[in-house]
Amino acid sequence: MPSKLILVLSGPNLNLLGEREPDVYGKATLDDHVATAREAAAAAGYEVDHLQSNSEGALIDAIHGARGRAAAIVFNPGAFTHYAHALADALAAYDGVVVEVHLSNPAARESWRHTSVIAPVATGTIAGFGGTGYRLAVQAALALLEDSQ
Ligand code: DQA
Repeated sequence: MPSKLILVLSGPNLNLLGEREPDVYGKATLDDHVATAREAAAAAGYEVDHLQSNSEGALIDAIHGARGRAAAIVFNPGAFTHYAHALADALAAYDGVVVEVHLSNPAARESWRHTSVIAPVATGTIAGFGGTGYRLAVQAALALLEDSQ
């Protein structure tokens, strides 16, 4: 039976959402965003597992653990987006749908945020829509998964 699991992964500092630079990232907490993702997934009969970590290794381990288990990964890698090649390598070894998601629009911010080392190994990217991005990311993954069945 095909997997009905979506892994939502959250990188460094995202545990502080709600308190951290609310003018940039909004007032909603990470729990709020995970609830949004869970609701969007449940509408199609999918479950969501979530892990937030400030450590690159824990995120790599979670991606390895998703191999053959989760149909998609919805990933906000935080600042790791911009330089964490080991995360990109881990995603390259994962065969499901990968949606990179950002609350803000990194392309419209400081130049060091303009590079994503994750984008080349993601199926697609959703950025700049705030918390709505989590719903859009799950729906994008589901649309691809449904098409491929
Ligand atoms: C972020 C954008 C990154 O540049 C930043 O380092 C973050 C959050 C976002 O969701 O907008 O921590 O990924």
